[in-house]
Amino acid sequence: MVTTRAGILGTGHSYPEGILTNADLATMVETSDDWITTRTGIKQRRKAAPEEYTSQFAVRAGRQAIERAGLQAEDIDLILCATVSPDQILPSTGCIIQAELGANKAAAMDLVAACSGFLYGLTLADAMIRTGQTKYALVIGAEVLTRYVDYTDRQTCVLFGDGAGAAVVGAVEGDRGILAARIRSDGRYLEQLYSPGGGTRRKPTAETLAAGDHFFKMKGNELFKVAVRSMADISREVLEEAGLSAEDVKLFIPHQANQRITDAVANKLNVESERVYSGISQHGNTSSASIPIGLDESVEAGKISPGDLVLMASFGGGVTWGGVLLRW
Ligand code: COA
Repeated sequence: MVTTRAGILGTGHSYPEGILTNADLATMVETSDDWITTRTGIKQRRKAAPEEYTSQFAVRAGRQAIERAGLQAEDIDLILCATVSPDQILPSTGCIIQAELGANKAAAMDLVAACSGFLYGLTLADAMIRTGQTKYALVIGAEVLTRYVDYTDRQTCVLFGDGAGAAVVGAVEGDRGILAARIRSDGRYLEQLYSPGGGTRRKPTAETLAAGDHFFKMKGNELFKVAVRSMADISREVLEEAGLSAEDVKLFIPHQANQRITDAVANKLNVESERVYSGISQHGNTSSASIPIGLDESVEAGKISPGDLVLMASFGGGVTWGGVLLRW
């Protein structure tokens, strides 16, 4: 029997000032505002300036989440930073965030699960809190994806944007908190979205850089189908585990990959658009940051009240996917 539940105590988000519009992209590759809007729902995305980097946005989002949770940085004892665009290989962006925040008691690490990273982090934080290993966890999704985007590849360059979102997780009372959390992966589909260069397999050299091996490569059509199926399935799974149905959900926050993917998943679950968060027109796909940004924007907009059921589902490169159901 679960005696203690973990719940979200505070949220925050941050993104760069820089904006890349569809019109900007139309000057770079053969595309149009009309194509991007109809096929993806995206109108603009945030783009970090050359001197900006991932941990800066993560720290701003994290600080806001800690403040809203009514805590101090020293109260945090675990930092999980989900990212596929870290500041550098070593140390982890988590450790850089830990130092910047002054979270002196916190263990810190990065979590690489692409767009599912935030829900992976939330699931692990939930388990750590319920076992008593952790009192307050800071889970962050933070990305500067535009560094890995090939601005000659019109299929991918229109999709991705930068930003960060964060949540402080801790024990909660009553019927609040995380009711069910599930994460999954299937590495057989790794080539649907990947970056072949930059690691030990294809170490960075002048040749691999010139060949663009460090850029994201994507099989968009195939990914689309797997994304819809896996997000709908995992959503049903967590609802079933909690003995609830999609009708009970006040707000559904899916990973923001494509408005058509969001619509297809919501349709499969019978959740009408009024109950579905959508921020893709303004942010594009911010990978691990998309769900925590969505969560914080929804909190700020007063769309989530105590007692509301919130369903989150994600899907990303790996491939990875996850679902978390919580009572706010
Ligand atoms: N502008 C104009 N035309 C474009 C284009 C762009 N930015 N990108 C692709 N096209 C063209 C293609 O070349 C193709 O042309 P063709 O018919 O002459 O060959 C045509 O548009 C249709 O391409 P297709 O790939 O079938 O389009 P789509 O409707 O599947 O949309 C994606 C493409 C990438 C938007 C869509 O597949 C998608 O969102 N997939 C999921 C991606 C994703 O979620 N990634 C991250 C996972 S977390």
